[in-house]
Amino acid sequence: MSAPLDRRQRAMLAEMGIPLWSPPARRHAVGRSPGKPAPVPQADARNTPPQPGVPAPAAAPERGLAALPPGVSGMDWAQLAAAVAQCRACGLCESRTQTVFGAGDRRADWMVVGEAPGREEDRLGEPFVGPAGQLLDNMLAAIGLSRHASSADAGTDAAGPGRPLRGVYIANVVKCRPPRNRNPEPDEIARCEPYLQRQIALVQPKIILAMGRFAVRALLKTDAPIGRLRGQVHAYEGVPVVVTYHPAYLLRALPDKAKAWQDLCLALSVAGGAAAESN
Ligand code: URA
Repeated sequence: MSAPLDRRQRAMLAEMGIPLWSPPARRHAVGRSPGKPAPVPQADARNTPPQPGVPAPAAAPERGLAALPPGVSGMDWAQLAAAVAQCRACGLCESRTQTVFGAGDRRADWMVVGEAPGREEDRLGEPFVGPAGQLLDNMLAAIGLSRHASSADAGTDAAGPGRPLRGVYIANVVKCRPPRNRNPEPDEIARCEPYLQRQIALVQPKIILAMGRFAVRALLKTDAPIGRLRGQVHAYEGVPVVVTYHPAYLLRALPDKAKAWQDLCLALSVAGGAAAESN
């Protein structure tokens, strides 16, 4: 990149640990407590072996659970949000405070897919609002994106220094917090999957950033490690997918922050290309 870096991008490079950084005043805004890592996916606390098959949503519900509502794939935003809010399709509904549907610009070119709500997300009902979310917001700001912006207002130019922030839509693979932030289980992911599929179909993003292995698994159906998948452009239903590390992991893995920055640059170039093609 030869364009001069603006303040946002400098802050991002700082966060990524890239040397050209000079200390900005806002440094504390990102990754503010390296000694106190965000909740990260832990080994499955229940030690339950993976389910061999994906249970059909219509399978007989367990006690207190209910089948997924019919017709998720044809729902509009309001119907989908209501369906998620009332969902009792897996055991995670028993321990959640509330569901965490998604946030941001529903007409965005960019979509970020994470894993599952953590404690703060469960409390507030919004994805990525804990420490990992602060890092994510700063990473996105560095490439000109904000969950609070509307792409419609920002024109069609690629993000760049001095340009207004553009919108991004953020959603998780699983809409309810797994107890103690354990990994979501295969059956929980499978039951929740139609919601994410419908969110993607409604947003119609030009680029999806898959953050962490659960997002990768859900979208790309592979267990390959992030390190092997990043650096290439994958596809989900025809939408380009760039794979990167989960921000919660980045909070404790300093060297990989630089790689995440490379991933964002790759996604930026893919999104720029997609925007150019559609103009
Ligand atoms: N991690 C995620 O994957 N999603 C959230 O919403 C928060 C943390």
